[in-house]
Amino acid sequence: MKPTTALPKTYRVKSFGCQMNVYDGERMAELLATRGIAPAPEGEEADLVVLNTCHIREKAAEKVYSDIGRMVKAGKAAGRTPMIAVAGCVAQAEGEEIMARAPAVSIVVGPQAYHRLPEMLDKAAVGERAADTDMPAIAKFAALPPRRKIGPTAFLTVQEGCDKFCTYCVVPYTRGAEISRPYSNLIDEAVKLVEAGAREITLLGQNVNAWHGEDEAGRATGLAGLIRALAAIDGLERIRYTTSHPADMDDELITAHGEVTKLMPYLHLPVQSGSDRVLKAMNRSHTVESYLKLLERFRAARPDIALSGDFIVGFPGESEAEFEETLSLVDVVRYAQAFSFKYSARPGTPAASMDGQIAAEVKDERLQRLQAALGRDQLAFNRASVGRNCDVLVERRGRHPGQWLGKSPWLQSVWFEGEANIGDLVSVELVEAGPVSIEGRLRTAVSA
Ligand code: SAH
Ligand code: SF4
Ligand code: F3S
Repeated sequence: MKPTTALPKTYRVKSFGCQMNVYDGERMAELLATRGIAPAPEGEEADLVVLNTCHIREKAAEKVYSDIGRMVKAGKAAGRTPMIAVAGCVAQAEGEEIMARAPAVSIVVGPQAYHRLPEMLDKAAVGERAADTDMPAIAKFAALPPRRKIGPTAFLTVQEGCDKFCTYCVVPYTRGAEISRPYSNLIDEAVKLVEAGAREITLLGQNVNAWHGEDEAGRATGLAGLIRALAAIDGLERIRYTTSHPADMDDELITAHGEVTKLMPYLHLPVQSGSDRVLKAMNRSHTVESYLKLLERFRAARPDIALSGDFIVGFPGESEAEFEETLSLVDVVRYAQAFSFKYSARPGTPAASMDGQIAAEVKDERLQRLQAALGRDQLAFNRASVGRNCDVLVERRGRHPGQWLGKSPWLQSVWFEGEANIGDLVSVELVEAGPVSIEGRLRTAVSA
């Protein structure tokens, strides 16, 4: 089938990956809007579909081809296939293959090149297929349009790329080398986001705590300095950041958690495994002990901090005893929330060709055991917060009339009933805890 050839009037961006992938999706949508292309109404076919892909695990990449297949089939039946653009990390890693395997795809654009999407659309509109997987360092951000109206929570990419090369991970190949966006650009973008309605900003980076720059006085500063500057923006109520790497942690950031009230008491610090041997094979550059010591320092600075982590089970060579060390680590830390994954061999990464690949059933069984432990701790954390009074940032309406959903400072989902508006920061008493959400009772609206 030939690619569609007409300038699209409507678009839909589908983001499949991490928060940075979602941020990229929003920025692509803003770019398309500057070309007069409108979001397709709910339930209607779009003229242009942007598949904003993720390459982190096998299933994520497979989804791209099945999605393309589905669109082509539906298009044949309807006599009209949308223009298809593949963006994101699969585009970066497998751009050529996609072009060869999927003739229905008009555009392939990597995560560092999507500012060029408008020119690529012009090409596609005259029937030329376009691919761009260049990595022009930081040019992208300068070429993007200003932020537009958004909801109460927003993402802001401050750092991108990764030089860590954990042996299982594709990110250093799909996102390129670590770069920090300049301080003044970030302050500008944050101010625009607040003007556009954001009350909470989550700073994003593959190694967000490796961010460094120079403040307006020319002084070298790290993430803590940036957070302190952002905290001075009127109307911005909450600051979060993710994802940190244990090796990039500095004292200033830990101290900031004890001093900056707008910085939320939540730390996502992936550990991946509780076995030093496995950590070494993963090239993680920290040990279980150094990781635990870091957490202790965060807890000393901010005793109520909620801890979160990422885990991989079934890394090549992981023995039952080594997996049990991960369970022991979980028992010690008592995470408030965590993300756990079965190891997925990614083409081109060192771990994919290591001996001792683990059978699927073993990975399944380990993941179940780990998730049971993490679920137990998440429920315990939620139960321990019952009786607390806290602010909740209202993000959306609940299922029932008069019901609202938002987040506690500890990133718990809280629902409550009463008078509120999206974007309000309301004072709530946490009254009943479930495994994934908490019921709150509205006290008083603290600000509107
Ligand atoms: N930059 C972040 C996030 C990386 S991707 C960091 O370093 O923490 C998010 C998570 O996906 C990782 O923390 C890891 O737990 C998981 N992950 C990455 N590669 C994986 C793979 N090949 N198989 C399974 N899980 C993986
Ligand atoms: Fe991947 Fe490791 Fe870099 Fe995180 S630190 S993005 S897991 S290589
Ligand atoms: Fe996926 Fe790329 Fe993010 S691989 S996790 S979308 S950095």
